[in-house]
Amino acid sequence: MVKIAVFVGSLRRESVNKSLAKNVERLSPEDVEFDYIDMDLPLYNQDLDGDLPSSVTEMKRKVEAADGVLFVTPEYNRSFSGVMKNAIDWASRPWGENSFSGKPAAIVGASMGALGTTQAQQALRNVALFLDMRLMGQPELYFNAVTGLDENGKVVEGSEDFLRRFAEAFAKHVENNGQ
Ligand code: FNR
Repeated sequence: MVKIAVFVGSLRRESVNKSLAKNVERLSPEDVEFDYIDMDLPLYNQDLDGDLPSSVTEMKRKVEAADGVLFVTPEYNRSFSGVMKNAIDWASRPWGENSFSGKPAAIVGASMGALGTTQAQQALRNVALFLDMRLMGQPELYFNAVTGLDENGKVVEGSEDFLRRFAEAFAKHVENNGQ
């Protein structure tokens, strides 16, 4: 069994990034299990580093128990969302207890436009590398939700193979411990 901690950077009920994550989960090999992180966390406050909120402790435990991490990010003003940054900042602290250290990881994202999260993913890559994650370089997945999802949030048939190829490559990346 390969366990993936999944960070979806949107709290929106109808989030296209949640839909993208669910589709990648559905198209992943059978032995891959997605564990969705509850992103509705308090705002990061360094005063609490010595006494973390229970929701944060739970989130860090999930990341540490996972074999890999998948970030599914919206693009907000040419970067990734504050919701995503907040969760990452918590998981990286307190100093010396970075839950992401050495974890195999990948970044994907969905937006409503043709440029589909290119800049958000690039900005997030910078943070993930700093936090010592083993990022998968290829294949990349920039998802246009307008043309790629049907009215039920299911990926359209023409895009399924592409998502399946990504999911299989990511499962291998995690199984190989990001080597
Ligand atoms: C956006 N959106 C957006 N899209 C994009 O391609 N590039 C961008 O820079 C931005 N900037 C941006 C800022 C803010 C504050 C919002 C709320 C939205 C549009 C965004 O891609 C769209 O709302 C997606 O639907 C967000 O993803 P979820 O919430 O559906 O997962």
